[in-house]
Amino acid sequence: MSKFGENFIWGVATSAYQIEGAFDEDGKGLSIWDTFSNKPGNVMNDENGNVACDHYHMSSSDVKMIADLGVKAYRFSIAWTRILPQGYGEVNQKGIDFYNKLIDDLLANGITPWVTLYHWDLPQTLQDEHDGWLGREIVDHFKNFADICFAAFGDRVKHWITLNEPWVVAILGYGQAVFPPAITSNSAPYLAGHHLLLAHAEAVQIYRQKYQQTQSGVIGITNNCDWREPIDDHPDNIAAAERALEFFLGWFADPVYKGNYPQSMIDRVGDRLPIFTVEEQEMLKGSSDFFGLNHYTTMMVKNDDHSADVEQSVYGNGGISEDQDVILSVDPAWGQTSMGWSIVPWGCRKLLVWIANRYGNPDIYITENGCSFDAEVVNGESADPGRVEFLHGYLEECANAIARGAKLKGYFAWSFMDNFEWALGYSKRFGLVHVDFETLVRTPKTSYHWYRDYIKENH
Ligand code: GAL
Repeated sequence: MSKFGENFIWGVATSAYQIEGAFDEDGKGLSIWDTFSNKPGNVMNDENGNVACDHYHMSSSDVKMIADLGVKAYRFSIAWTRILPQGYGEVNQKGIDFYNKLIDDLLANGITPWVTLYHWDLPQTLQDEHDGWLGREIVDHFKNFADICFAAFGDRVKHWITLNEPWVVAILGYGQAVFPPAITSNSAPYLAGHHLLLAHAEAVQIYRQKYQQTQSGVIGITNNCDWREPIDDHPDNIAAAERALEFFLGWFADPVYKGNYPQSMIDRVGDRLPIFTVEEQEMLKGSSDFFGLNHYTTMMVKNDDHSADVEQSVYGNGGISEDQDVILSVDPAWGQTSMGWSIVPWGCRKLLVWIANRYGNPDIYITENGCSFDAEVVNGESADPGRVEFLHGYLEECANAIARGAKLKGYFAWSFMDNFEWALGYSKRFGLVHVDFETLVRTPKTSYHWYRDYIKENH
């Protein structure tokens, strides 16, 4: 038997705004990412997703390429503003048609669709009318959108992910102003996060009440987390690393598995952290049929006892680190991707085991893992040895985590093809397939062939 166990799900992942393009076609409304990226100064080189990979027009051939890769699962997201151009109101049939065709194409090719309902492209109207995720109204709007998607696609879609990485939405959008709506605050992220969690729980509730019995699908949430390694074995640093994980993953996973925020957050964030009612706690607890995890990198943690004026880490993903009293750093010996993210395969294993222990050994799906490396096309070939090494290293540690009892059931490489990497535009390439953004020609990279062989070997 393969070291990944029987029926392990091999997949690749993308998201709507990063690949579709056709930003204003066939009745689609504008999302906050359309608006943000079309304003100069927000995205590197003033790039935007107006065309992106033009997947909207090329989905059939893209599905063929996914099928040729040998994966049996494809994770993509639905653009809310294709279905509901304003975020609510009348359904845009052409948006439904696009995803119907995509889903049918996938199924015809033996590929199971895994559908994310929200991968950051909030309808601009909802941003304008309710302050986006800061307004409580958003919870009902998301529930309504989810309901429409379950009704339209649930006869064929059996794997749903409500939200992609609420941590990123809250921190990068409402704390660090890197993503829209570009707010800088040390309290707004907690309010946005609260509404994200409630929106997730309401969507799950509606699915379970109206659809799950007849459609027999599963639904969950995808959270992102780096691993946090104590810088040494001093108890203060060990505690600080644990705290950092609670502020990162526990923030969004504790409510879903335990019904409330981690105690360390409640104690430290004080009245900036909203409180769940008892009914909300009950609705949240158990609201994920599986543990969706996006994992990319690792950082080391030292307790910040404020004894020295230490410059806070320049590395991203610190969250609101002053609430955590942690000092983050990386080991200079670690290799790095072109994002500047450290390559630490064992961090993946440790995180999987941590999740298994903290959350009662749930079924885990890595819904994203991958890396950015530059790779051009030379003589019709695109060589990316760094990505092959990265994927190999992380997958071997996934197998090690399984050997230690973690119930990892699937793995989706991020990403199927190079795409719009948010505020970094097209400067970072995460794909197994190279995309020439002038001609839109796709060329499989070395890693595409390698992943295909690896899946075959480990089936
Ligand atoms: C994730 C995100 C993806 C992708 C990836 C690489 O946070 O869900 O959309 O951009 O990071 O940065």
